[in-house]
Amino acid sequence: MQNRIIIKKKINHYNKKIIIPGDKSLSIRWVLISSLANGISKAKNLLMSEDVLAAIQAIRKLGVKVKINNKICKVYGVGIDGYKYKRGLSINAQNSGTLGRLLVGLLINSPYPIKIIGDKSLSKRDFNRIAKPLRKFGAHLKLKNNYTLPLTIKGSQNLKPIRYLEDKGSAQVKSSIIFAGARTYGRTLIKSKKSRDHTERLFKYLKLPIKIKNKKSFDLIEINKVKKIKPLNYKIPTDLSSCAFFIVLTTLLKNSKLTIKDVNINPTRTAILTILRKMGVKISLFNKKIYKGEQLADIFIKSPKTLKSINCPTNLNSGAIDEFLIIFLVAAKAKGISYFKNLDELNKKESPRLKWGAKILKMMGVKLILTNSSIKIYGNPNLEINKKIVIKNYLKDHRVFMTSVIAALSFGGIWTIWDPHSTRTSFPNFLKILKDLGAKIS
Ligand code: S3P
Repeated sequence: MQNRIIIKKKINHYNKKIIIPGDKSLSIRWVLISSLANGISKAKNLLMSEDVLAAIQAIRKLGVKVKINNKICKVYGVGIDGYKYKRGLSINAQNSGTLGRLLVGLLINSPYPIKIIGDKSLSKRDFNRIAKPLRKFGAHLKLKNNYTLPLTIKGSQNLKPIRYLEDKGSAQVKSSIIFAGARTYGRTLIKSKKSRDHTERLFKYLKLPIKIKNKKSFDLIEINKVKKIKPLNYKIPTDLSSCAFFIVLTTLLKNSKLTIKDVNINPTRTAILTILRKMGVKISLFNKKIYKGEQLADIFIKSPKTLKSINCPTNLNSGAIDEFLIIFLVAAKAKGISYFKNLDELNKKESPRLKWGAKILKMMGVKLILTNSSIKIYGNPNLEINKKIVIKNYLKDHRVFMTSVIAALSFGGIWTIWDPHSTRTSFPNFLKILKDLGAKIS
Protein backbone atom coordinates (compact mmCIF):
# COMPACT_ATOMS: atom_id res chain seq x y z
CA MET A 1 0.00 0.00 0.00
CA GLN A 2 1.25 3.51 -0.82
CA ASN A 3 1.70 5.99 1.98
CA ARG A 4 -1.06 8.21 0.63
CA ILE A 5 -4.31 7.83 -1.26
CA ILE A 6 -6.03 10.12 -3.74
CA ILE A 7 -9.78 10.56 -4.07
CA LYS A 8 -11.08 12.64 -7.01
CA LYS A 9 -14.66 11.53 -7.27
CA LYS A 10 -17.67 11.25 -5.00
CA ILE A 11 -19.10 7.78 -4.47
CA ASN A 12 -22.29 6.84 -6.37
CA HIS A 13 -25.42 5.93 -4.49
CA TYR A 14 -25.82 2.31 -3.34
CA ASN A 15 -28.21 -0.16 -1.76
CA LYS A 16 -26.10 -2.79 -0.01
CA LYS A 17 -25.53 -5.07 2.95
CA ILE A 18 -22.06 -4.90 4.45
CA ILE A 19 -20.08 -6.79 7.07
CA ILE A 20 -17.99 -4.73 9.50
CA PRO A 21 -15.31 -6.28 11.77
CA GLY A 22 -15.51 -7.04 15.49
CA ASP A 23 -15.60 -4.46 18.25
CA LYS A 24 -12.21 -3.13 19.39
CA SER A 25 -13.16 -2.49 23.03
CA LEU A 26 -14.62 -5.98 23.38
CA SER A 27 -11.74 -7.66 21.53
CA ILE A 28 -9.13 -6.14 23.84
CA ARG A 29 -11.18 -6.91 26.96
CA TRP A 30 -11.73 -10.49 25.83
CA VAL A 31 -7.97 -11.01 25.30
CA LEU A 32 -7.09 -9.59 28.73
CA ILE A 33 -9.83 -11.35 30.71
CA SER A 34 -9.26 -14.70 28.94
CA SER A 35 -5.57 -14.52 29.79
CA LEU A 36 -6.49 -14.86 33.47
CA ALA A 37 -9.17 -17.54 33.05
CA ASN A 38 -8.67 -21.12 34.15
CA GLY A 39 -8.55 -22.89 30.79
CA ILE A 40 -8.87 -22.22 27.10
CA SER A 41 -11.12 -19.42 25.78
CA LYS A 42 -12.00 -19.22 22.10
CA ALA A 43 -13.06 -16.15 20.13
CA LYS A 44 -14.59 -15.86 16.70
CA ASN A 45 -14.63 -12.58 14.83
CA LEU A 46 -11.87 -11.15 17.03
CA LEU A 47 -10.82 -7.82 15.51
CA MET A 48 -7.49 -8.55 13.80
CA SER A 49 -6.15 -5.04 14.10
CA GLU A 50 -2.86 -3.75 15.47
CA ASP A 51 -4.39 -2.66 18.79
CA VAL A 52 -5.73 -6.16 19.42
CA LEU A 53 -2.54 -7.85 18.18
CA ALA A 54 -0.65 -5.63 20.64
CA ALA A 55 -2.91 -6.98 23.41
CA ILE A 56 -2.09 -10.54 22.31
CA GLN A 57 1.64 -9.73 22.29
CA ALA A 58 1.30 -8.23 25.77
CA ILE A 59 -0.25 -11.33 27.33
CA ARG A 60 2.29 -13.55 25.54
CA LYS A 61 5.01 -11.57 27.27
CA LEU A 62 3.29 -12.39 30.56
CA GLY A 63 3.54 -16.10 29.82
CA VAL A 64 0.15 -16.72 28.22
CA LYS A 65 -0.05 -18.98 25.15
CA VAL A 66 -2.21 -17.72 22.24
CA LYS A 67 -2.99 -19.49 18.96
CA ILE A 68 -4.70 -17.96 15.96
CA ASN A 69 -6.01 -20.41 13.37
CA ASN A 70 -8.80 -20.33 10.80
CA LYS A 71 -10.16 -17.07 12.16
CA ILE A 72 -10.42 -18.53 15.66
CA CYS A 73 -8.27 -17.16 18.45
CA LYS A 74 -7.50 -19.43 21.43
CA VAL A 75 -6.13 -17.99 24.65
CA TYR A 76 -4.71 -20.53 27.12
CA GLY A 77 -5.63 -18.76 30.35
CA VAL A 78 -3.16 -19.10 33.23
CA GLY A 79 -5.54 -18.41 36.13
CA ILE A 80 -5.96 -15.20 38.10
CA ASP A 81 -2.48 -15.33 39.67
CA GLY A 82 -0.75 -17.05 36.77
CA TYR A 83 1.12 -14.24 34.98
CA LYS A 84 4.86 -14.99 34.74
CA TYR A 85 6.37 -11.74 35.90
CA LYS A 86 10.03 -11.50 34.90
CA ARG A 87 12.63 -8.92 35.77
CA GLY A 88 13.19 -6.23 33.16
CA LEU A 89 9.91 -6.80 31.32
CA SER A 90 8.88 -4.14 28.82
CA ILE A 91 5.48 -4.17 27.10
CA ASN A 92 4.59 -2.10 24.05
CA ALA A 93 0.97 -0.92 23.96
CA GLN A 94 1.69 0.63 20.54
CA ASN A 95 -1.20 2.98 19.64
CA SER A 96 -3.75 1.66 22.11
CA GLY A 97 -4.83 3.73 25.11
CA THR A 98 -7.33 1.01 26.00
CA LEU A 99 -4.64 -1.69 26.12
CA GLY A 100 -2.13 0.50 27.96
CA ARG A 101 -4.54 1.68 30.62
CA LEU A 102 -6.41 -1.58 31.21
CA LEU A 103 -3.26 -3.68 31.29
CA VAL A 104 -1.58 -1.52 33.93
CA GLY A 105 -4.62 -2.18 36.17
CA LEU A 106 -3.92 -5.91 35.85
CA LEU A 107 -0.21 -5.50 36.62
CA ILE A 108 -0.93 -4.09 40.07
CA ASN A 109 0.45 -7.21 41.78
CA SER A 110 3.71 -7.43 39.81
CA PRO A 111 6.67 -8.13 42.11
CA TYR A 112 9.09 -6.46 39.65
CA PRO A 113 8.96 -3.17 37.81
CA ILE A 114 7.33 -3.49 34.37
CA LYS A 115 7.83 -0.82 31.77
CA ILE A 116 5.00 0.19 29.44
CA ILE A 117 5.87 2.00 26.23
CA GLY A 118 3.82 3.10 23.24
CA ASP A 119 4.08 4.72 19.82
CA LYS A 120 4.52 8.45 19.21
CA SER A 121 0.80 9.19 19.60
CA LEU A 122 0.28 7.10 22.76
CA SER A 123 3.46 8.59 24.26
CA LYS A 124 1.79 12.01 24.29
CA ARG A 125 -1.32 10.86 26.18
CA ASP A 126 -2.31 11.20 29.83
CA PHE A 127 -1.41 8.16 31.92
CA ASN A 128 -1.55 10.07 35.18
CA ARG A 129 -5.30 9.48 35.04
CA ILE A 130 -4.67 5.82 35.91
CA ALA A 131 -1.53 6.32 37.98
CA LYS A 132 -3.53 8.34 40.51
CA PRO A 133 -6.07 5.66 41.46
CA LEU A 134 -3.60 2.76 41.08
CA ARG A 135 -1.16 4.35 43.55
CA LYS A 136 -3.98 4.45 46.09
CA PHE A 137 -4.11 0.64 45.93
CA GLY A 138 -0.46 0.61 47.04
CA ALA A 139 1.29 0.14 43.68
CA HIS A 140 4.31 2.21 42.66
CA LEU A 141 4.04 4.03 39.34
CA LYS A 142 6.52 6.30 37.64
CA LEU A 143 5.67 8.36 34.59
CA LYS A 144 7.62 10.66 32.33
CA ASN A 145 6.93 14.19 33.60
CA ASN A 146 4.42 12.53 35.92
CA TYR A 147 2.04 12.41 32.95
CA THR A 148 3.03 10.21 29.97
CA LEU A 149 4.66 6.97 28.88
CA PRO A 150 7.10 5.42 29.42
CA LEU A 151 5.41 4.27 32.60
CA THR A 152 6.91 1.85 35.12
CA ILE A 153 4.69 -0.06 37.49
CA LYS A 154 5.84 -2.11 40.42
CA GLY A 155 2.92 -3.73 42.17
CA SER A 156 2.34 -4.53 45.79
CA GLN A 157 1.68 -7.81 47.58
CA ASN A 158 -0.30 -5.88 50.14
CA LEU A 159 -2.95 -4.14 48.06
CA LYS A 160 -5.65 -2.11 49.77
CA PRO A 161 -9.13 -1.56 48.34
CA ILE A 162 -9.94 2.02 47.37
CA ARG A 163 -12.82 4.45 46.90
CA TYR A 164 -12.52 6.56 43.80
CA LEU A 165 -14.46 9.22 41.96
CA GLU A 166 -13.98 8.81 38.19
CA ASP A 167 -15.27 12.12 36.86
CA LYS A 168 -13.90 12.20 33.29
CA GLY A 169 -16.43 9.70 31.93
CA SER A 170 -13.50 7.51 30.88
CA ALA A 171 -14.18 3.80 30.47
CA GLN A 172 -10.45 3.18 30.30
CA VAL A 173 -9.87 4.68 33.75
CA LYS A 174 -12.93 2.93 35.18
CA SER A 175 -11.89 -0.44 33.72
CA SER A 176 -8.31 -0.08 34.92
CA ILE A 177 -9.62 0.41 38.47
CA ILE A 178 -12.05 -2.51 38.10
CA PHE A 179 -9.15 -4.76 37.04
CA ALA A 180 -7.01 -3.59 39.96
CA GLY A 181 -9.97 -4.03 42.34
CA ALA A 182 -10.40 -7.58 41.03
CA ARG A 183 -6.89 -8.34 42.33
CA THR A 184 -7.46 -6.76 45.75
CA TYR A 185 -9.09 -8.23 48.88
CA GLY A 186 -11.91 -6.04 50.23
CA ARG A 187 -14.45 -3.76 48.59
CA THR A 188 -13.25 -1.29 45.98
CA LEU A 189 -15.88 1.37 45.32
CA ILE A 190 -15.97 3.50 42.18
CA LYS A 191 -18.34 6.37 41.59
CA SER A 192 -18.02 6.71 37.87
CA LYS A 193 -19.41 9.24 35.44
CA LYS A 194 -21.28 7.33 32.71
CA SER A 195 -19.07 5.68 30.11
CA ARG A 196 -19.07 2.48 28.07
CA ASP A 197 -19.75 -0.46 30.36
CA HIS A 198 -18.33 -3.50 28.51
CA THR A 199 -16.02 -4.46 31.39
CA GLU A 200 -18.90 -4.48 33.87
CA ARG A 201 -21.08 -6.53 31.52
CA LEU A 202 -18.35 -9.13 30.95
CA PHE A 203 -17.70 -9.36 34.70
CA LYS A 204 -21.42 -9.86 35.35
CA TYR A 205 -21.76 -12.45 32.60
CA LEU A 206 -18.79 -14.35 34.08
CA LYS A 207 -20.39 -14.09 37.54
CA LEU A 208 -17.38 -12.23 38.95
CA PRO A 209 -17.91 -10.30 42.21
CA ILE A 210 -19.12 -6.95 40.82
CA LYS A 211 -22.21 -4.95 41.85
CA ILE A 212 -23.50 -1.96 39.94
CA LYS A 213 -26.06 0.68 40.81
CA ASN A 214 -27.02 2.89 37.88
CA LYS A 215 -27.81 6.47 38.89
CA LYS A 216 -28.79 9.28 36.53
CA SER A 217 -25.34 10.54 35.58
CA PHE A 218 -23.10 8.24 37.62
CA ASP A 219 -22.74 4.53 38.21
CA LEU A 220 -21.76 3.12 41.59
CA ILE A 221 -19.55 0.10 41.12
CA GLU A 222 -18.39 -2.29 43.82
CA ILE A 223 -15.73 -4.84 43.02
CA ASN A 224 -14.18 -7.53 45.19
CA LYS A 225 -11.22 -9.89 44.78
CA VAL A 226 -11.78 -12.32 41.92
CA LYS A 227 -10.80 -15.87 42.80
CA LYS A 228 -11.40 -17.71 39.55
CA ILE A 229 -12.48 -16.87 36.00
CA LYS A 230 -14.23 -19.40 33.77
CA PRO A 231 -13.03 -19.56 30.15
CA LEU A 232 -15.14 -17.44 27.81
CA ASN A 233 -16.03 -18.57 24.31
CA TYR A 234 -17.18 -15.46 22.54
CA LYS A 235 -18.19 -14.27 19.10
CA ILE A 236 -17.13 -10.63 19.11
CA PRO A 237 -20.06 -8.41 18.01
CA THR A 238 -19.64 -5.85 15.22
CA ASP A 239 -18.07 -2.51 16.17
CA LEU A 240 -20.58 0.36 16.06
CA SER A 241 -17.72 2.89 16.00
CA SER A 242 -16.47 1.34 12.74
CA CYS A 243 -20.04 1.17 11.38
CA ALA A 244 -20.34 4.90 12.13
CA PHE A 245 -18.24 5.84 9.07
CA PHE A 246 -20.65 3.98 6.78
CA ILE A 247 -23.75 5.20 8.62
CA VAL A 248 -22.55 8.78 8.08
CA LEU A 249 -21.56 8.13 4.46
CA THR A 250 -25.12 6.93 3.80
CA THR A 251 -26.45 9.98 5.67
CA LEU A 252 -24.46 12.37 3.47
CA LEU A 253 -25.43 10.73 0.16
CA LYS A 254 -28.66 10.78 -1.79
CA ASN A 255 -30.88 7.73 -2.40
CA SER A 256 -28.66 5.23 -0.62
CA LYS A 257 -29.55 2.39 1.70
CA LEU A 258 -27.34 0.29 3.92
CA THR A 259 -27.79 -2.72 6.18
CA ILE A 260 -25.19 -3.87 8.73
CA LYS A 261 -25.63 -7.11 10.69
CA ASP A 262 -25.10 -8.07 14.34
CA VAL A 263 -23.92 -4.69 15.56
CA ASN A 264 -23.23 -4.14 19.24
CA ILE A 265 -25.90 -1.64 20.29
CA ASN A 266 -24.84 -1.40 23.92
CA PRO A 267 -26.74 1.72 25.11
CA THR A 268 -23.50 3.30 26.38
CA ARG A 269 -22.24 3.32 22.78
CA THR A 270 -25.26 4.36 20.72
CA ALA A 271 -25.23 8.15 21.22
CA ILE A 272 -24.29 8.54 17.55
CA LEU A 273 -27.65 7.01 16.61
CA THR A 274 -29.46 9.36 19.03
CA ILE A 275 -27.60 12.37 17.60
CA LEU A 276 -28.28 11.44 13.97
CA ARG A 277 -31.96 10.79 14.73
CA LYS A 278 -32.19 14.24 16.33
CA MET A 279 -30.71 15.61 13.10
CA GLY A 280 -33.46 13.97 11.07
CA VAL A 281 -31.93 10.65 9.99
CA LYS A 282 -34.10 7.52 10.00
CA ILE A 283 -32.24 4.55 11.42
CA SER A 284 -33.97 1.25 12.19
CA LEU A 285 -32.73 -1.50 14.45
CA PHE A 286 -34.15 -4.97 13.91
CA ASN A 287 -33.43 -8.62 14.86
CA LYS A 288 -32.56 -7.35 18.33
CA LYS A 289 -31.05 -9.95 20.65
CA ILE A 290 -28.97 -10.31 23.78
CA TYR A 291 -25.61 -12.04 23.41
CA LYS A 292 -23.56 -12.85 26.52
CA GLY A 293 -24.50 -9.64 28.28
CA GLU A 294 -24.38 -7.32 25.24
CA GLN A 295 -27.23 -6.16 23.00
CA LEU A 296 -27.02 -6.76 19.26
CA ALA A 297 -29.12 -5.69 16.30
CA ASP A 298 -29.04 -5.31 12.54
CA ILE A 299 -28.95 -1.65 11.50
CA PHE A 300 -30.79 -0.24 8.48
CA ILE A 301 -30.20 3.31 7.33
CA LYS A 302 -31.53 5.36 4.44
CA SER A 303 -30.21 8.69 3.15
CA PRO A 304 -32.40 11.49 4.56
CA LYS A 305 -33.92 14.26 2.38
CA THR A 306 -32.81 17.02 4.76
CA LEU A 307 -30.62 17.36 7.84
CA LYS A 308 -31.34 19.54 10.89
CA SER A 309 -28.66 21.17 13.03
CA ILE A 310 -28.21 20.06 16.64
CA ASN A 311 -27.35 21.64 19.98
CA CYS A 312 -25.81 18.43 21.21
CA PRO A 313 -26.75 17.55 24.83
CA THR A 314 -23.54 16.98 26.82
CA ASN A 315 -24.91 13.78 28.35
CA LEU A 316 -24.39 12.23 24.90
CA ASN A 317 -20.66 13.09 24.83
CA SER A 318 -19.24 9.95 26.40
CA GLY A 319 -21.52 7.65 24.37
CA ALA A 320 -20.32 9.16 21.09
CA ILE A 321 -16.75 10.02 22.09
CA ASP A 322 -15.15 8.13 19.19
CA GLU A 323 -17.72 9.39 16.66
CA PHE A 324 -17.53 13.18 16.94
CA LEU A 325 -15.17 13.68 13.99
CA ILE A 326 -17.60 11.93 11.71
CA ILE A 327 -20.63 13.62 13.33
CA PHE A 328 -19.04 17.03 12.55
CA LEU A 329 -19.32 16.16 8.84
CA VAL A 330 -23.07 15.71 9.25
CA ALA A 331 -23.27 19.08 11.02
CA ALA A 332 -21.41 20.64 8.07
CA LYS A 333 -24.27 19.60 5.77
CA ALA A 334 -27.17 20.32 8.15
CA LYS A 335 -29.43 23.36 7.89
CA GLY A 336 -28.43 25.77 10.68
CA ILE A 337 -25.74 26.03 13.34
CA SER A 338 -24.76 22.98 15.34
CA TYR A 339 -23.10 23.24 18.73
CA PHE A 340 -21.00 20.64 20.55
CA LYS A 341 -19.58 21.49 23.97
CA ASN A 342 -17.67 20.11 27.02
CA LEU A 343 -15.54 18.12 24.62
CA ASP A 344 -12.08 18.68 26.08
CA GLU A 345 -11.60 14.89 26.30
CA LEU A 346 -11.65 14.84 22.50
CA ASN A 347 -8.30 16.60 22.36
CA LYS A 348 -6.80 13.79 24.47
CA LYS A 349 -7.33 11.01 21.94
CA GLU A 350 -4.90 9.49 19.41
CA SER A 351 -4.58 13.05 18.05
CA PRO A 352 -6.15 16.29 19.35
CA ARG A 353 -9.38 15.40 17.58
CA LEU A 354 -11.41 18.52 18.32
CA LYS A 355 -8.65 20.54 16.66
CA TRP A 356 -8.38 18.09 13.78
CA GLY A 357 -12.14 18.07 13.26
CA ALA A 358 -12.03 21.87 12.98
CA LYS A 359 -9.00 21.74 10.67
CA ILE A 360 -10.67 19.37 8.23
CA LEU A 361 -13.89 21.42 8.19
CA LYS A 362 -11.93 24.64 7.60
CA MET A 363 -10.09 23.09 4.67
CA MET A 364 -13.53 22.12 3.34
CA GLY A 365 -14.58 25.78 3.56
CA VAL A 366 -16.99 25.31 6.47
CA LYS A 367 -17.45 28.26 8.82
CA LEU A 368 -16.94 27.42 12.49
CA ILE A 369 -16.04 28.72 15.92
CA LEU A 370 -13.61 26.59 17.91
CA THR A 371 -12.61 26.79 21.58
CA ASN A 372 -10.57 24.35 23.70
CA SER A 373 -13.68 22.35 24.48
CA SER A 374 -16.40 23.29 22.01
CA ILE A 375 -17.18 23.80 18.36
CA LYS A 376 -19.97 25.66 16.55
CA ILE A 377 -20.44 24.49 12.99
CA TYR A 378 -22.33 26.61 10.45
CA GLY A 379 -23.99 23.99 8.26
CA ASN A 380 -24.66 24.31 4.54
CA PRO A 381 -27.04 21.80 2.93
CA ASN A 382 -25.54 22.62 -0.50
CA LEU A 383 -21.92 22.13 0.53
CA GLU A 384 -19.77 21.04 -2.44
CA ILE A 385 -15.97 21.09 -2.54
CA ASN A 386 -14.17 22.05 -5.73
CA LYS A 387 -10.59 22.36 -4.56
CA LYS A 388 -7.54 20.36 -3.58
CA ILE A 389 -7.24 19.23 0.03
CA VAL A 390 -4.23 17.54 1.62
CA ILE A 391 -4.50 15.75 4.96
CA LYS A 392 -1.20 14.86 6.64
CA ASN A 393 0.82 14.99 9.88
CA TYR A 394 -2.15 13.99 11.99
CA LEU A 395 -0.22 11.55 14.24
CA LYS A 396 -1.59 8.71 12.09
CA ASP A 397 -4.88 8.91 13.96
CA HIS A 398 -7.04 6.22 12.30
CA ARG A 399 -10.25 8.17 12.85
CA VAL A 400 -8.84 11.35 11.26
CA PHE A 401 -7.89 9.30 8.19
CA MET A 402 -11.27 7.57 7.91
CA THR A 403 -13.22 10.81 8.48
CA SER A 404 -11.25 12.51 5.70
CA VAL A 405 -12.00 9.66 3.31
CA ILE A 406 -15.74 9.87 4.05
CA ALA A 407 -15.63 13.66 3.55
CA ALA A 408 -13.90 13.24 0.17
CA LEU A 409 -16.40 10.64 -1.01
CA SER A 410 -19.43 12.68 0.01
CA PHE A 411 -18.52 16.34 -0.64
CA GLY A 412 -16.19 16.08 -3.66
CA GLY A 413 -12.92 17.91 -4.31
CA ILE A 414 -9.53 16.36 -4.93
CA TRP A 415 -8.14 14.89 -1.74
CA THR A 416 -4.68 13.55 -0.96
CA ILE A 417 -4.81 11.74 2.35
CA TRP A 418 -1.58 10.47 3.88
CA ASP A 419 -0.92 7.36 5.96
CA PRO A 420 -3.66 4.91 4.97
CA HIS A 421 -1.86 2.37 7.19
CA SER A 422 -3.37 4.19 10.14
CA THR A 423 -6.55 2.12 9.60
CA ARG A 424 -4.63 -0.95 10.74
CA THR A 425 -5.08 0.01 14.40
CA SER A 426 -8.87 -0.38 14.36
CA PHE A 427 -10.27 -1.17 10.92
CA PRO A 428 -7.81 -2.79 8.47
CA ASN A 429 -10.34 -3.47 5.68
CA PHE A 430 -11.97 -0.01 5.78
CA LEU A 431 -10.85 0.98 2.24
CA LYS A 432 -11.70 -2.46 0.84
CA ILE A 433 -15.33 -2.16 2.03
CA LEU A 434 -15.57 1.32 0.49
CA LYS A 435 -14.24 0.00 -2.81
CA ASP A 436 -16.85 -2.80 -2.72
CA LEU A 437 -19.48 -0.06 -2.30
CA GLY A 438 -18.15 1.55 -5.49
CA ALA A 439 -15.64 4.14 -4.21
CA LYS A 440 -12.81 5.09 -6.58
CA ILE A 441 -9.66 5.40 -4.50
CA SER A 442 -6.16 5.39 -5.95
C1 S3P B 1 -12.44 2.94 25.17
C2 S3P B 1 -12.82 4.06 25.86
C3 S3P B 1 -12.79 5.41 25.29
C4 S3P B 1 -12.65 5.39 23.78
C5 S3P B 1 -11.64 4.38 23.30
C6 S3P B 1 -12.00 2.99 23.78
C7 S3P B 1 -12.50 1.62 25.86
O1 S3P B 1 -11.69 6.12 25.84
O2 S3P B 1 -12.33 6.66 23.29
O3 S3P B 1 -11.55 4.39 21.90
O4 S3P B 1 -12.43 0.58 25.18
O5 S3P B 1 -12.62 1.61 27.09
P1 S3P B 1 -11.80 6.86 27.26
O6 S3P B 1 -12.17 5.86 28.26
O7 S3P B 1 -10.43 7.42 27.53
O8 S3P B 1 -12.81 7.95 27.06
